[in-house]
Amino acid sequence: MDTTEDILRERIKELTCLYEISSIIVNTNVGQMQETLKAISKSLKKGFQFPEQTEVSIKTPIRSFKTGTINKSLTIASEINVFNKAEGAITVSLKNEKCTFLKEEKQLLDSVALKIGNLLERIEIQRNETSLRRQMEQADRLSILGEITAGIAHELNTPLANILGFAELVKDNLRTDQLANEDLDKIIDNAIFSREVVKKLMFFACEMPQERKVVNLVESIQSSLTLLDASFKKANVKYEVIAEDNLIQLKADPIQLTQIIFNLIINAIYFSPENSTVTITASQSDKNGMFTVSDEGPGLSEEALEKVFQPFFTTKPTGDGSGLGLSVVHGIVASHKGVITAKNKTGNGATFMVKLPKT
Ligand SMILES: Nc1ncnc2c1ncn2[C@@H]1O[C@H](COP(=O)(O)OP(=O)(O)O)[C@@H](O)[C@H]1O
Ligand SMILES: [Mg+2]
Repeated sequence: MDTTEDILRERIKELTCLYEISSIIVNTNVGQMQETLKAISKSLKKGFQFPEQTEVSIKTPIRSFKTGTINKSLTIASEINVFNKAEGAITVSLKNEKCTFLKEEKQLLDSVALKIGNLLERIEIQRNETSLRRQMEQADRLSILGEITAGIAHELNTPLANILGFAELVKDNLRTDQLANEDLDKIIDNAIFSREVVKKLMFFACEMPQERKVVNLVESIQSSLTLLDASFKKANVKYEVIAEDNLIQLKADPIQLTQIIFNLIINAIYFSPENSTVTITASQSDKNGMFTVSDEGPGLSEEALEKVFQPFFTTKPTGDGSGLGLSVVHGIVASHKGVITAKNKTGNGATFMVKLPKT
């Protein structure tokens, strides 16, 4: 690198490279990260003084790309910062140890790292917006479902009570006819089953009367666990309670609170592999009492994450589940002005978090 012409040629290459990379970044989106990093790496390689000796590696939290093997003894690197946090890096290496980097090349690398950082920030913002919109749509859908369900449940409640009442009357009058009696028992059983479904739907739609009292969340959890002890043993699953405090007072309907805890734990046991542990945590803030139920099972699919709280959503085989448990839980939590969320743990398994106001 001696003549002015050479130096100028290098500067032009670097500027061309920067321009190319800017165009690539402007025209990309989340789904194309892999191709984008590849295009950026290729462009960057051309921008260096000895393209054939140069290898580029770009690491980001979403995707990574390498043009070839990095010679660790001769590199320059720039951090990629996303919202002021180092989240990745671009590393450029030279194969031939006699070659050297130019001062301007480090500057070029810094500029490109900055641009990639901006792109990652843009993607992060987009993602947050999408997930917020999803959550709102889901809440809307649940409340519409709640209204429809409340209507249907109301309409069915009275005729069901009639079917049950009249069937019992007929049964009283038909004491001697064995066959008719058996048929009537079937009618009665089915009517009782339907009444239970209607009752659960009314819970989901927050239509059940409730009596709120001051209760200790930790005690409710402990007494639910005592009742569920046999279920744990039968499934060969262990449990662990981590309570931040022994006294977490809430104003809640004690039976409904137990129902929330029961449903979540029963699901956790159902999806737990043998010898695994269901973990229940309890904590509090100034305004809320919180608890979580986590298991080490398969966790929730994309679809399940979206639909767990909808009535009749179930992945259990027919006969095993009605898909009403969590919709009832959601209804109860909502009527207490609380919040329930479902997510996957980073390792494996699902976590349900319930937050209930203290007053
Ligand atoms: N702990 C869990 N792990 C994995 N999936 C779960 C868990 N809890 C609930 N689900 C999913 O949510 C669905 C609905 O649950 P729920 O409303 O309790 O109804 P059901 O238990 O009758 O299926 C389940 O069928 C399952 O797909
Ligand atoms: Mg269930």
